[in-house]
Amino acid sequence: MDKYRCFIAIDLPAGVKAELTRMQKGFASWPVKVKWVEEQNLHLTLKFLGDVTGPQIADLQAGLAKVSLAHRRFKISIRGFGAFPGTRNPKVIWAGIDDPKQELEQLWLGIEDELAGRGFNPEVRPFSPHLTLGRVKDPRPGPGFQSILPNLGIAGCLVPVTEIKLMESRLSRSGPTYTCLQSFALQEHS
Ligand code: 2AM
Repeated sequence: MDKYRCFIAIDLPAGVKAELTRMQKGFASWPVKVKWVEEQNLHLTLKFLGDVTGPQIADLQAGLAKVSLAHRRFKISIRGFGAFPGTRNPKVIWAGIDDPKQELEQLWLGIEDELAGRGFNPEVRPFSPHLTLGRVKDPRPGPGFQSILPNLGIAGCLVPVTEIKLMESRLSRSGPTYTCLQSFALQEHS
């Protein structure tokens, strides 16, 4: 049976992607090899599914349609930068998310609950929303990352969350290609 590598994500407005791309350039003084996420690929991952079958995609579509009916649109903002597993040993460089009313977390929980009921593996780690900007390619990047961070500011990047997207990722040597399989609009405020 054919398999599709899938994830669930929130897309970003073009202006926010452009601002994040500008921020990536702010790391240029750090002499370490980083594979920066290309502008069109910047996104907020809600759940990584890995390889799923055609029938599972139909189940995901039904589940996400249900979740989208139960959640209203909201806004989050982008705040600060950091790295996994930590800024002393950066492997994944990210921009942080401010979710003051925990609306993003509620949406994430709704997706987790709905998909767990349909047999998808629940996430075992706590919710840690972030926008991956780049992946460090040097095994020992050495010091210096922490000193760049205070110099990087990000200007009021507000992200309206109006829909969730079921995405397919195709990997190749030149990098991933993401395709939206279906968008699920969140409810408008009455
Ligand atoms: P992240 O960048 O927010 O960490 C699409 O591949 C997205 O799914 C990636 O951007 C990544 O999200 C997430 N992802 C990819 N591989 C993963 C894995 N093995 N485990 C968890 N998340 C993964």
